[in-house]
Amino acid sequence: MVFDILTLFPGMFDSPLNESILGKARQRGYVEVRIHNIRDYAFDKHQVTDDRPFGGGEGMVMKPEPIVRCLEAAAGEGPRPRVLLMSPQGRLFNQELAWELSRLPRVALICGRYEGVDERVAAYHADDEISIGDYVLTGGELAAMIVIDAVTRLIPGVLGNAASAESESFAEPVLEGPQYTRPQEFEGHGVPEILLSGHHEAIQQWRRGQALLRTKKRRPDLFARLDLSPLDRKLLRAAEEDCEKRSGRMEVAEGPSLCGPGALPCSEPQR
Ligand code: ADE
Repeated sequence: MVFDILTLFPGMFDSPLNESILGKARQRGYVEVRIHNIRDYAFDKHQVTDDRPFGGGEGMVMKPEPIVRCLEAAAGEGPRPRVLLMSPQGRLFNQELAWELSRLPRVALICGRYEGVDERVAAYHADDEISIGDYVLTGGELAAMIVIDAVTRLIPGVLGNAASAESESFAEPVLEGPQYTRPQEFEGHGVPEILLSGHHEAIQQWRRGQALLRTKKRRPDLFARLDLSPLDRKLLRAAEEDCEKRSGRMEVAEGPSLCGPGALPCSEPQR
């Protein structure tokens, strides 16, 4: 898969693209990232890429011509990329879109700066405007990096344990439950006893109950979309009962209370 990044700040991508899973995915040829400097496509000798907004107002707007010339040069002879304009006004990026993009041969990401990008880029040259969340960054570079990261890990072969990404593609939107590792006791806090029991099936069921409970508490919007089986309902009820039972008291031997006051993974007040 090829990513084309169109940016005024190519240096921002240096280290994130070279580290960890992304670095390996590039080395092993699963993804190729081509960085294009929009400034190289400005016409004038000062290489101006922005200008004042028509109609007045604060700040500067990115001019359309350098971006479009850069896009045309980047697209070159290969397959036409899906063109995404990174912008806080865009469609919210999510896992479903990450899966969709991971199946494409080529994606171009235009990183906006300043107060925005001339609307004619979005209207006539981009296939989609994408936002990574309801907050405003100083530019689209970090947003583009997030999209590249989320998409790359879904490309078959990129994660060592391919099953871990694959299982997500079919999974409903359920948050991960709490995870623990050694030491068994940390700062006086233990881990849930069931995890030490060796009963594989009981552990799986406990995890499912915790995941459902966490989703219900933290993300009622996701929870409302779930189609729970009778077993799910039972496991969720068990998790809720456990939570209530432990609420207010920390039982070190059994691990932290997963609900109620104290330091717990599922204790956040319902939003
Ligand atoms: N550029 C600035 N803020 C952004 C956001 N939230 N998502 C995508 N691009 C952006």
